[in-house]
Amino acid sequence: MTQPCPLWLAERLRAAGGAVDVAQYMAWVLHDPVHGAYGSGRLRVGPKGDFATSPSLGPQFAALLAPQIAQWLQQHGDSPLSLIEAGPGEGDLAADLVMQLVAGWPDLARQLELVLIEPNAGMAARQRRRLAAAPLRVRWASFADLAASPLQGVLLAHEVLDALPVARVIWDGACWRRQVVRFDEAGAAGLPLRLEPGELLDPQVDAAEWRLLQLRGLLAHHRLPSGWTTELHTAVAPWLADAAAALDRGVLLVVDYALENRRYNLETRASGTLLAYRDQRASGDLLGDPGHWDLTAHLCLETLEADACSSGWQPLGQRLQGEALLALGLAQRLYGLQQSRPDQLAEALASREALLRLVDPAGLGAFRWVALGRPSDRVVAPSLFLSEQPATTS
Ligand SMILES: C[S@@+](CC[C@H](N)C(=O)[O-])C[C@H]1O[C@@H](n2cnc3c(N)ncnc32)[C@H](O)[C@@H]1O
Repeated sequence: MTQPCPLWLAERLRAAGGAVDVAQYMAWVLHDPVHGAYGSGRLRVGPKGDFATSPSLGPQFAALLAPQIAQWLQQHGDSPLSLIEAGPGEGDLAADLVMQLVAGWPDLARQLELVLIEPNAGMAARQRRRLAAAPLRVRWASFADLAASPLQGVLLAHEVLDALPVARVIWDGACWRRQVVRFDEAGAAGLPLRLEPGELLDPQVDAAEWRLLQLRGLLAHHRLPSGWTTELHTAVAPWLADAAAALDRGVLLVVDYALENRRYNLETRASGTLLAYRDQRASGDLLGDPGHWDLTAHLCLETLEADACSSGWQPLGQRLQGEALLALGLAQRLYGLQQSRPDQLAEALASREALLRLVDPAGLGAFRWVALGRPSDRVVAPSLFLSEQPATTS
């Protein structure tokens, strides 16, 4: 499929020789400070925006998560603590968690600062407004800033790793090739942007992609049809290494859509998981109206775990969001809504709807919560949401 190309992107593609890989395309259309969907602050997170996330449905998600955050923070005694959120979007989760922690754990909150990591100025501007009245010290920083004086506490990555640029690769029947976005001046008038197979992947040159192909089980003995396409999360390991350098002691909680290899590699998943989102719609057209759509791909559980281990983290466990929230008391919260007074009915019904959406197995309930600790950290508390049994994997 071909798509019209805006002038700014045509100029970049021309300067790059006519084509760039999908990761570079994603970096431009999502994060360019003027033209990017996040960089410009154009994308809106929430049920009335481009796409809804769990925290954007209301304060219930933070209320359920707060005891877990408090438990992890409390293990550090009375030293200074940081609650860090990477990719805070509208700032809903950070704002609601701060309110919960200040109200429910006031002594702990006195030790606490909130640190937000947001590379996109347009998003950070909205976060500043959302958190203007937060009853806690709030600052914005980069991982590089934090590495100079690493913190202890909890780092949250809610729907952020899925927004990192991915390499897209195609099986051509004999070899793996990198997919590229090409600007073709000679193409049909006004329709010059298209996806096409690029260079063969070379294990020497493309070591990061090759390692991920191996971890995904895609190097040997697969019987995938020619043209089968998937994405490789080349930006996740560097991101995790930066995060480890920023957090000396504590826990990283990753919450995202994630699939096991056996589900990611299904023959029927022939176009991978990369999709575009806007106005509450999902589209498989990755090139339409560049800079106006979010582009996200599901994580792979095996590669996330391997990347974590090689980047300074130890896996503490993972669970489906639906199970995690039930372990944290969602059913009791639903039951409690029955006691609402008649004048609270509208609010109670809205809360009930939000709670049910958070555990919907066909939606947000299928998200994964992946808890990671620092291997040097001897005081990682057991998680409230992890059971003794192995986590569900189907
Ligand atoms: C899908 S939104 C998630 C927003 C929020 N966490 C939520 O769940 O409602 C992704 C957020 O991550 C930010 N982001 C993108 N790349 C990032 C990176 N490398 N580090 C930190 N944040 C990033 C985006 O600007 C945006 O704020």
